Amino acid sequence: MADENDKYYVTTPIYYVNDKPHIGHLYTTIAADVLASYHRLRGEEVLFLTGTDENSQKNTEAAEKQGYEDIQAFLDMMAETWKKAFAEMKITNDDFIRTTEGRHRKGVEKFWAMVKETGDIYEGEYVGLYCTGCEAFLNESDLEDGKCVMHKKAPQELKEKNYFFRLSAYRERLLAYIDENPDFIQPLSRRNEVRSYVDKFMEDISISRDVGAVKVGIPVPGDDTQVIYVWFDALINYLTGVGFGTDDAKFDKWWPADLHIVGKDIIKFHCALWPAMLMSAGLPLPKRVFAHGFFTIDGDKMSKSLGNVIDPLDVARKYGRDPLRYFLLREITFGEDGDFSLKRLEERYNGELANDLGNLLHRTLSMTEKYLSGEVSAVADGSVQESWDRYDAAMQSADFSDALETVWGILRSSNKLIDDKKPWVLAKEGGDSELSEVMYVLLERLRHIAWMLKPFMPGVTDRMLEQLGVTESDKRKEYEDRKLWGGMIEGTSIAKGEPLFPRLEE
Ligand code: ME8
Ligand code: MG
Repeated sequence: MADENDKYYVTTPIYYVNDKPHIGHLYTTIAADVLASYHRLRGEEVLFLTGTDENSQKNTEAAEKQGYEDIQAFLDMMAETWKKAFAEMKITNDDFIRTTEGRHRKGVEKFWAMVKETGDIYEGEYVGLYCTGCEAFLNESDLEDGKCVMHKKAPQELKEKNYFFRLSAYRERLLAYIDENPDFIQPLSRRNEVRSYVDKFMEDISISRDVGAVKVGIPVPGDDTQVIYVWFDALINYLTGVGFGTDDAKFDKWWPADLHIVGKDIIKFHCALWPAMLMSAGLPLPKRVFAHGFFTIDGDKMSKSLGNVIDPLDVARKYGRDPLRYFLLREITFGEDGDFSLKRLEERYNGELANDLGNLLHRTLSMTEKYLSGEVSAVADGSVQESWDRYDAAMQSADFSDALETVWGILRSSNKLIDDKKPWVLAKEGGDSELSEVMYVLLERLRHIAWMLKPFMPGVTDRMLEQLGVTESDKRKEYEDRKLWGGMIEGTSIAKGEPLFPRLEE
């Protein structure tokens, strides 16, 4: 078996396809992409999975609204839209799972049988209020004036024969697991929220629906009057996406996942129902679930009725993919709620990307051309070890803001170094050895900065490395070696190019 640390399996939620992706969906997906890229740079084998949640009434309603009689045709068309959007954003997912695929259905059937075997599935009659927005039965506490608090819409009254999952039987084991594994649910505020839900509110749940009522879904094995509840089905994607039910060797290699990234809206499903399902089936639990916050748009909740839903592709076409990725992970501390505003994006673009980063590169390369005939000078003393330590620690705990802040620390001190040392004065006054030292430090720091920023801005940093004249051998180095001081090689020609971030005009 391969060393545990040599592989990394990261997932996003699988998204409903009742609409095209908005900026919130891209936020989660970009975060997972950054971590996947980071672990690939470390030389690990990575599996990054995303996909679509298709056996949902929400999707069926959207299909009908658009006049589709053939639901599957609608799902195929929408899954294509999501794949295309992710491709345009250059998301590097290794696989894309759709819950209407055969490989998924096979795994779900197998999983159902395992849970049934344990005795955790029983038949009962469900009387309750169902919200298709949530794809869940609601409790009194989810209602306000008879409407779902989240979706502002009255739930349907349901009375059906359903299969139930003995979720409450896992209360004690879940609590013990959460207590013994402090890193299982992050951040801490979410862990406390889940713990209290499990302790005080968690009940058995219905895991099937009447086939006539919902029209879509995977049939319950042995009872084709019922289909499997969409959440029970959807969560299993994390297994079927790595071969559960179809490829045992692949499954044994990748499961358990290193990290599920989800939004805070779906933590009960991921941190209570999902681990209980796995315990029931006798499978290992994912190592970590990280729930990020939600953002508003200019202070308002993103919603169709407010007309403020942001299409990430529009933003990327206008400002660039990399600036959008950077902004999303810089502006909002991962795990907290925040606000998205194009004005803030423009401010950070001009201030941090065009000025701090773009100018540093451009100035350094211009001076190298002017004073050192465009060649890297002899290795001079310096170190970025502490920055790398802080950066790696931040990346390992998905603290993107701190990782970026670390990089900006190097950027600011480098810009200050230029202002203090004034290479143009050194050049004029014959301070050749000091000039060549300062220039080496600047170029070498820029190499480190480019590698640190690579997961965040893959396109821009490629151009940076090219302009710096970073050699192929540096790109082939092991991660730890690349972090050592002295990677810029004396005599290498730099290749100054167009500015990385053309300034935005009013
Ligand atoms: O819940 N801010 O799918 P979904 C930040 N199919 N993130 C946001 C956001 C916002 N304003 N809006 C959405 C489902 N998201 C299920 C998941 S998984 C087995 C099944 C992101 O299409 C965030 O990650 O409603 C949230 O959890 C997800 O989109 C919900 O996507
Ligand atoms: Mg949702």
